[in-house]
Amino acid sequence: MNWARACFASDLEDDKPFSVEVGDELVAIVQHEGELFAIRDQCSHGRVMLSLGEVVDCTIECFAHGSRFDLRTGEALDLPATQPVPVYPVKVEGDDVLVDLANPISTN
Ligand code: FES
Repeated sequence: MNWARACFASDLEDDKPFSVEVGDELVAIVQHEGELFAIRDQCSHGRVMLSLGEVVDCTIECFAHGSRFDLRTGEALDLPATQPVPVYPVKVEGDDVLVDLANPISTN
């Protein structure tokens, strides 16, 4: 594992995606129903930040054309997006939220 600090846990509010640059990548950290998720902060359909969309039922919706992505797997649940978005392991240590961009969660 290759954990990198993303933000403070105290930065996060339920269902309010927090966009942060980790290394070269923009990641949306999402706190939803007591769980944390980390998803690349870019829709697979266009250059749109997913963190600007709504979080509902463990999904995040792209505000541009409405595709929803599963926060657990990154799977695209609605057209027009057809490709998944990478999701990453995330954990809290003290008040630090850590993500592991080197080991995306596999959906296989
Ligand atoms: S840019 Fe996200 S669904 Fe089109």
